[in-house]
Amino acid sequence: MKLDQEKKIDLVRIAKQVRKWAYVPYSGFKVGAAVLTESGRIYDGVNVENAAYPDTICAERAAIFTAVSNGETKFRAIAVVTEKGGTPCGSCRQVMAEFSPDMLVIIADENEKIIFEKKLSDLLPNAFLPNDLK
Ligand code: THU
Repeated sequence: MKLDQEKKIDLVRIAKQVRKWAYVPYSGFKVGAAVLTESGRIYDGVNVENAAYPDTICAERAAIFTAVSNGETKFRAIAVVTEKGGTPCGSCRQVMAEFSPDMLVIIADENEKIIFEKKLSDLLPNAFLPNDLK
């Protein structure tokens, strides 16, 4: 899957659009994510909080788990939109690395401005990967 600027903008726009569905009665911190598969499909997700706080799921993992639930396990890029452009937590980085350690992570703010983009392997160097279990 070729990743041109237009596709990056698409991803950010979708992440921004779904962000409104974030279920955040506790933190008020809305996150939207959109992941692009190597096959060219896009899956989105939002953070979903819970009265039992640790049962909350982040937007990035919601998007990735939806993709995996649709048979997709190879990812090219993910866009994450928050108010000011926050970066993915460690758990989300680890889940991304399981599938695609070289995927691009695009961080944008609520105005769809890209704050930065980095390879996941730079955000989570020396990740523990499936091969480490062998
Ligand atoms: N959150 C995400 O959705 N993604 C991240 O990478 C960081 C944190 C959510 C979880 C919780 O609903 C809220 O942001 C505050 O931590």
